[in-house]
Amino acid sequence: MEKRQLLYEGKAKKVYATDDESLCVVAYKDDATAGNGAKRGSIAGKGAVNNRVTNHLMRLLEQNGVPTHFVRQLSERESLVKKVDIVPLEVIVRNIAAGSLAQRLGVPEGTRLAAPVLEHCYKNDALGDPMVNEYHILAMGWAVREELDTIAQYAFRVNEVLAEVLRGAGIQLVDFKLEFGRTAEGKILLADEISGDTCRFWDEATGEKLDKDRFRRDMGGEEDAYREVLHRLLGA
Ligand code: TMP
Repeated sequence: MEKRQLLYEGKAKKVYATDDESLCVVAYKDDATAGNGAKRGSIAGKGAVNNRVTNHLMRLLEQNGVPTHFVRQLSERESLVKKVDIVPLEVIVRNIAAGSLAQRLGVPEGTRLAAPVLEHCYKNDALGDPMVNEYHILAMGWAVREELDTIAQYAFRVNEVLAEVLRGAGIQLVDFKLEFGRTAEGKILLADEISGDTCRFWDEATGEKLDKDRFRRDMGGEEDAYREVLHRLLGA
């Protein structure tokens, strides 16, 4: 599949058109940002790791009832995906209090939540991705009721499937962020990525952070942490 013009460049990925208007190529970068672009840097090898981890998890989700945009891996850093219009929401699921939830509610990081929590943020860098509720989303026309219900159902299913596979790898799934898109036919698909950039992964035995918090919090060791997750999930 030939890569054509650049459609979009984000903080961690580029998206290209292809000869087939229903398909795109995603190219993963090593660039990393945190705090809505306030901190910039790069994590060596991250793009290749995130490509492989995302594709592995998307394949698994597809087999477990969550339709995704994934088609096939093209190269170390590139994958072919179905073209979608991204619903402008960050859909966050949390199992354990951490990050902005721990701050907002004044609970210690690591507090187990009695039930998974679903949150929505409006995807808008200029506004700092503000948290919104379903009334805001419907009022602004970012999604309709049926789409929101489908997205919530898929997000909780993603949580079940990922938590189980990660548990098998000795990793706790603390929280994660998903993005969904609509195909030309209006079908909702899981899009974007699922990786250490978009999830919090804690080592089950030691509590060690195996995700982008190492970069966000200047802890160091981010290359090794990303590689460790790849190794535990794919044996690679
Ligand atoms: P938060 O605690 O900072 O709100 O993050 C919750 C989860 O969402 C965490 O796994 C990191 C992920 N996330 C993103 O992938 N992109 C973002 O822009 C933000 C704010 C969070």
